[in-house]
Amino acid sequence: MKITRKLILAFGFLLMSGMAWAKSQIVIETAKTGLVFTVGDDGRLYQSYLGKRLPAKSDYAGLPLGKEAYQAHGMEDYFEPAIHINRADANSSTLLEYRSHETKACPGGTETVIRLADPVYADEVALHFMAYADEDVFVAWSEVFNREKKAIELEKYASAMLHFYAPKYYLTQYDGDWAAEVRRHTQELYFGKKVIDTKLGARADMFAPPFFQLSIGTPATEKAGEVLVGTLAWTGNYRFTFEVDNLGALRVLGGINPYASQYRIDKGGSFRTPDFIFTLSQCGTGQASRNLHDWARKYRVKDGTGNRMTLLNNWEATYFDFNEDKLLKLIADAKELGVDMFLLDDGWFGNKYPRHSDTQGLGDWDVTAGKLPNGIGRLTDEARRQGVKFGLWIEPEMVNPKSELYEKHKDWVITLPNRKEYYFRNQLVLDMSNPKVQDYVFGVVDGLLTRYPGIAYFKWDCNSPITNIYSNYEGHDQTHLYVDYVCGLYNVLKRIEAKYPDLPMMLCSGGGGRTDYEALKYFTEMWPSDNTDPVERLFIQWGYSQVFPAKVQCAHVTSWNKDAGIKFRVNVAMMGKLGFDINLHDISAGELAYCKQSVADFNRLKPAILDGDQYRLVSPYDGNHASTMYVTKDRRSGVVFAFDIYPRYAERLYNVVLDGLDASAIYSVREINRADGSQGEARSYSGAYLMTVGLPLFTGNKLSSRVYELTAE
Ligand code: GLA
Repeated sequence: MKITRKLILAFGFLLMSGMAWAKSQIVIETAKTGLVFTVGDDGRLYQSYLGKRLPAKSDYAGLPLGKEAYQAHGMEDYFEPAIHINRADANSSTLLEYRSHETKACPGGTETVIRLADPVYADEVALHFMAYADEDVFVAWSEVFNREKKAIELEKYASAMLHFYAPKYYLTQYDGDWAAEVRRHTQELYFGKKVIDTKLGARADMFAPPFFQLSIGTPATEKAGEVLVGTLAWTGNYRFTFEVDNLGALRVLGGINPYASQYRIDKGGSFRTPDFIFTLSQCGTGQASRNLHDWARKYRVKDGTGNRMTLLNNWEATYFDFNEDKLLKLIADAKELGVDMFLLDDGWFGNKYPRHSDTQGLGDWDVTAGKLPNGIGRLTDEARRQGVKFGLWIEPEMVNPKSELYEKHKDWVITLPNRKEYYFRNQLVLDMSNPKVQDYVFGVVDGLLTRYPGIAYFKWDCNSPITNIYSNYEGHDQTHLYVDYVCGLYNVLKRIEAKYPDLPMMLCSGGGGRTDYEALKYFTEMWPSDNTDPVERLFIQWGYSQVFPAKVQCAHVTSWNKDAGIKFRVNVAMMGKLGFDINLHDISAGELAYCKQSVADFNRLKPAILDGDQYRLVSPYDGNHASTMYVTKDRRSGVVFAFDIYPRYAERLYNVVLDGLDASAIYSVREINRADGSQGEARSYSGAYLMTVGLPLFTGNKLSSRVYELTAE
């Protein structure tokens, strides 16, 4: 210990030690939030505070002890524990005493590790808290070490536990289904438990993404109220538990769903839980979202600060019905449209069982000779000739029973040996817990990139949950499958990252079936939903924006809801990472011209939309209109999108009050991106005026939209 400290000091890393309360209090702070733990007289660790950062550190010393920080099963607590360990002697109680802690600098903030140990058994738990100062984001996880002589089994193993004590709590969750993702619901929490979890395994977030908003005291609005926004970075079964106890205290637990997932730790081994990421805003959900957006772009998402490519995808333009000629034309269309990339979707592979529909071929990643006689190489050559990049769809974790892979390697498939198989979208899931399967999946990507170096991007899909739950590889450890599946997936993604660090990839799972911050370490963007109706997308993008920046939300213009007209559809898509999934020959010359103009506008507006601050000004949940704006970090420019969805007859219209501007700056405001290609007249307003009086951006017209560009003079 002495040597470690000396070393740490020598490198100037040790930030916190030797304070008056260092023995009994651990203070973890970001710019605006304080998280305080106290070691009680009984030697156990308590959470004394989680709230607005207090200016005088001495204030923390006066706090009541609070609730035990990481409650363990089997002792005197009557509510949901953070940890429950089964031991060889059948005693499953755990008592955790404080042993030590240290805080060191990490990029953007600090990392604090608090070590706890059981005085009777040799189990140890380390609680980790990374605190990102400027972004006000905490990343928490725990690590359990087995120093016993025999194996132990984790029954429950939360990443983190947080405590609140307030008169009222309101939980906002986002749930839905395929093509109906992230629908917002809010409820007050009373005594008892509210659980949001998933047991879907691979397409884990199909019914609910792994995030929530918890308002403390009063329901938070966009700009007011104390609100905790939390999310779990885990591409598998997760669980959030919110439990109000008999005294009105609330505990929040986030972690891997322990359902059918008891996990053995062998002697000398350890288990690290996934990251539970949270931010606590004192001024509503808008600030909480911006905190997470900033943190994600800087510290989490693959190439978070880099550029993103606009694209033309062929999925809705052709579905499975294409050949080389059609694709060559589409590549030329991508060029004509002015986008950066052409993306070839599902349907290009399989020979014994050509992928003519979703009924067969998954697993056989060789190009269908009948469809593409000159292979992918002909397509990447053409893309190069046209000056666009080439992207390719894959779904490497899955298999159709009608495939050569299934015929050869049934033992690689998650399926019950003695029951009729149940199929989701006619397919089964490969057993990613098996290292041979991991090699195979890595080989799909590596093989394609080796054969076709012109591939510049992958869309990685995952269309089935884990069904027929049995692993040939896990043997007697079947309860390890859900966890090992995800770890196996990460092994593959790490190998891809190591060999192809600059390869952008889209995370897709039958729409938004995978939307988490661990996967996004390896993916530059995600596909939020197969529902591309622009009205639905206003809600879907609103929902995901609570936690994810526009930069990672792919938004494509398609033929869904043609009544909305090209302008409305394009304007909605411009609020995310713009793409097109439309047959350019089905639209008029005027519409095509509009799309081209929009690509150019989007490219100019990228610094605000993709890398700036997002302000949700008018919620589609609150009426028949919606408005969102994006401001560059230097507040010198911005863009406002305004939508009239289905206004009522003679509906009263109110100004849209802008946000995030420099009050003393004068902005030139001009309507751009009009349907006829023209621009409005520029008018000047102060930032103060725009953020106080606002602008009359809404109309009584159905499905109409406007885009305004702001430039500081
Ligand atoms: C999923 C994706 C779609 C498309 C199809 C192809 O549904 O979400 O975008 O790629 O698969 O089969």
